[in-house]
Amino acid sequence: MKVTVVGAGAVGASCAEYIAIKDFAEEIVLVDIKEGFAEGKAMDLMQTASLNGFDSTIVGATNDYTKTAGSDVAVITSGIPRKPGMTREELIGINAGIVKDVAEKLIAESPNVIIIVVSNPMDTMAYLAHKATGLPKNRIIGMGGALDSARFKYRLAEALECAQSDISAMVIGGHSDTGMVPLIDKAVRNSVPVTEFLSEEKQTEVVEATKVGGATLTKLLGTSAWYAPGAAVSELVRAIALDSKKLFPCSALLEGEYGLSDISIGVPCIIGKNGIEKIVEIELSAAEKEKLAASAEGVSKVNDLL
Ligand code: NAI
Repeated sequence: MKVTVVGAGAVGASCAEYIAIKDFAEEIVLVDIKEGFAEGKAMDLMQTASLNGFDSTIVGATNDYTKTAGSDVAVITSGIPRKPGMTREELIGINAGIVKDVAEKLIAESPNVIIIVVSNPMDTMAYLAHKATGLPKNRIIGMGGALDSARFKYRLAEALECAQSDISAMVIGGHSDTGMVPLIDKAVRNSVPVTEFLSEEKQTEVVEATKVGGATLTKLLGTSAWYAPGAAVSELVRAIALDSKKLFPCSALLEGEYGLSDISIGVPCIIGKNGIEKIVEIELSAAEKEKLAASAEGVSKVNDLL
């Protein structure tokens, strides 16, 4: 498998590093507009191959898409991240132009590529990628829910004082502080509902901490996070590479699923060699449905800014 990662910044480089360490890709191409930056990151990462024990080749390119030719998967992380106090939505002006331009250049070199959109506001950027490229809907995946669900598991495990690996939980809806819908009533600790262990007050605390998970880190770091975003992307790429049919909440273009249309928003998706192989419609409670509908309204408002 050949993977391109556009944007060799914090998230792009972390994503490339995890993909390399997991050792399922033959070649990883890092692209950035900053002269020499992607080449430098690629060289630095290649010098970890003997230390980390991987055989993937990593190459860098300054805005040269010919090196990306024949990519199976391309990850778009190019753009600006938020600063403390900013919302993801405030990034739209700059990032929309970048995402559209990058998506077109990627497809010109790799007509069969599956695109994973990471740049924020991610649901709107994924929607824009659909509109701008007209690719079949299975081939554009927005990454947000995989990260938000990992943050939800972290918060649940912390509250339950248990291992994260014991938790199965999912966040659907828009990838924004107000749009996320952590499905606490469906979360389990090794088959036992987490609601059996947590008071209502604690449940609310966990849900709220999950929704502002990104903002909490932005405040601490002065910019947005990169390790968990990079790891989440690498898991989506791995599911495609290994055709593992894993289920992740991803931002997918909906055409009637969950009563929503003409919107890209986080819903459970089966990921395999064809990208989004199936959107899974799970039974939602009335309260969950209401939250998802409100979230979709928020995402649509951001889409209207395009
Ligand atoms: P960063 O600033 O560290 O890296 C962005 C890189 O993109 C820079 O190196 C920049 O030179 C490059 N770039 C800008 N325009 C470009 C273009 N036209 N072509 C190629 N490269 C270009 O930012 P970071 O922290 O890596 O974040 C990247 C994006 O990912 C941001 O929009 C951020 O909000 C988003 N993000 C999304 C997450 C998600 O869950 N969907 C999680 C974390 C960040």
